[in-house]
Amino acid sequence: MRNITKQNVTEAVKQSFEKIEDPRLKLLIERLVTHVHAYATETQLTHAEWQGALGFLHRAAAISSESRSEFTLMSDVLGLSSLVDLLASRPGATEGSVLGPFHTRGSPWVESGANLIKDNPGVPVLLRGKVTSTQGAPIAGATVDFWQNADNGLYWQMDSTQPQDNLRCQMQVLPDGTFELLTIRPQPYMVPTDGPIGELLRVAHRDAWRPAHYHLIVEAPGHRTLVTELFDAEDPYVAQDAVFGVRESLVANFKPESDPAVLAKYRLAGPYRVVDFPVVLAPAS
Ligand code: BEZ
Ligand code: FE
Repeated sequence: MRNITKQNVTEAVKQSFEKIEDPRLKLLIERLVTHVHAYATETQLTHAEWQGALGFLHRAAAISSESRSEFTLMSDVLGLSSLVDLLASRPGATEGSVLGPFHTRGSPWVESGANLIKDNPGVPVLLRGKVTSTQGAPIAGATVDFWQNADNGLYWQMDSTQPQDNLRCQMQVLPDGTFELLTIRPQPYMVPTDGPIGELLRVAHRDAWRPAHYHLIVEAPGHRTLVTELFDAEDPYVAQDAVFGVRESLVANFKPESDPAVLAKYRLAGPYRVVDFPVVLAPAS
């Protein structure tokens, strides 16, 4: 097209992508162009604002590394990660929630009933779960990948005082679909604010806090993989998660308990908390 105008530029750009062969990719690009152009027109985006936005993206790239993605954090604080999780949720199945940046593949395998506390200070918590299908049948073949932060609020990757793989594990559920783990109560945590996303949170007077949570990935053959979180109902930030990960169905009471059998099994000196997490996996589509 020779004469590009405000009226035809969107169509011209869309046409330039006409030859994409993958129909899904073609749709995603076509809709991206439509919405980005509509955004610029609706807001009457100025040169200064456009350059400001590009500078923001450059600063995000500059602070990103192998172990840190400011772009993922951008998606998180804009609620996009959470929306993608919600779109992937299936009726009757446990709701998904953000993966976050601190999952690493290859955590140590332990048996159900393991004690992850080791030298960690903190309130002991017995996490009990049962993995079932949407029909209510136990899923014996399920595996659970679990990770959390330490009592000082930090994940082991952020804290050189913690041993590698502190407070994380993978396990196979028992034949009846249940699993159990002794760990500590998680702590609220602040998303990194030393990059451009920190600037955005500050300008919006937004909190950087995430409420205390456990992370779980539950997988089983023939089922959709679930990436989710379990939140502590007593946490002060449970209603204002910086990354919009909280769903009512994922908020649990960490109930005080002191069952002598549990105290003996885990050699605990005093009361602990217990939290139950029924996990329902949707069938693979
Ligand atoms: C987290 O769960 O720790 C997390 C999630 C999103 C952004 C930053 C941290
Ligand atoms: Fe987390």
